[in-house]
Amino acid sequence: MSETKTRQSKDFTNAPMCLSGRGVTKVFGLGDKKTVAVDHVDFDFHVGEFVSIVGESGSGKTTLSKMLLGLLNATEGEIQFMGKPRDISSGAKKREYWKGIQAIFQDPFSSYNVFHKIDSVLLDCINMRGGKNLPKEKKIEMMTEACSFVNLKFAELTNKYPFELSGGQMQRLMIARIFLLKPKILLADEPTSMVDACSRATILDMLLDLRDETGMTIIFITHDIGLAYYISDTVYIMEHGKFVEFGKADEVIINPKAAYTKRLISDVPKIHEAWDLSTVDLKAE
Ligand SMILES: Nc1ncnc2c1ncn2[C@@H]1O[C@H](COP(=O)(O)OP(=O)(O)OP(=O)(O)O)[C@@H](O)[C@H]1O
Ligand SMILES: [Mg+2]
Repeated sequence: MSETKTRQSKDFTNAPMCLSGRGVTKVFGLGDKKTVAVDHVDFDFHVGEFVSIVGESGSGKTTLSKMLLGLLNATEGEIQFMGKPRDISSGAKKREYWKGIQAIFQDPFSSYNVFHKIDSVLLDCINMRGGKNLPKEKKIEMMTEACSFVNLKFAELTNKYPFELSGGQMQRLMIARIFLLKPKILLADEPTSMVDACSRATILDMLLDLRDETGMTIIFITHDIGLAYYISDTVYIMEHGKFVEFGKADEVIINPKAAYTKRLISDVPKIHEAWDLSTVDLKAE
């Protein structure tokens, strides 16, 4: 994982659709206090595609993610999941939807029940996937495999609580959960914000491996256009709640059209050079 990598973004235009939206909008508050956090966005995310949504703080990325996850109702617009209008009108339908879409949040500490030991966190994932009645040995084998996928040792974690892990280990545990849950879509909102540049590159590589191994769609939310270029097939550039530009990562970043995209790129030095993972956190240079 430490070798120099250059990435080629793939074109997913003709791949089957997994999540799409038309006119998706979120308005918070009323009158003078009104904030249009997400403003009539259209998007088409395809099966197996690695999509990044890039924008500065406050551009509406997390609000959009919450709508995609069904944690926040859209004020306007329509979302389609696997080619059909998404229906999350009851608790049961929401739970069914969440088998298809899972998230890694900005703060990994908020994602766990602190009173549950790590093995029960992972066992819950196996149970959610219908593996409740599997023999104990099989469950241990699955948990061991998931941990080794993210370079954690299951045997060393079994009796620990999530808060006994480091930030980086915690984020890797979140990826191990996703490895077990195998959702169709993974939404990752700045999952690398808590870790150093080296662990960050490792986590990004794990997300890419996860996509390559499972064919899952990954929606990666970031303020860092350099990371988006390194990791994605497709990028959507978000400014003040709108998508100002989208397309294949290589095309958008090598030949940006919107002034905002140009500005984001000019903030990142060396973007056209081959990527060396040790320099992936360009802002730290
Ligand atoms: N619950 C809320 N009530 C009112 N306004 C909100 C709420 N949540 C978000 N906003 C506003 O919506 C806008 C978009 O916020 P959002 O959190 O989606 O941005 P973001 O792109 O995720 O930013 P960051 O990169 O800092 O995480 C901001 O102006 C924010 O203040
Ligand atoms: Mg956010």
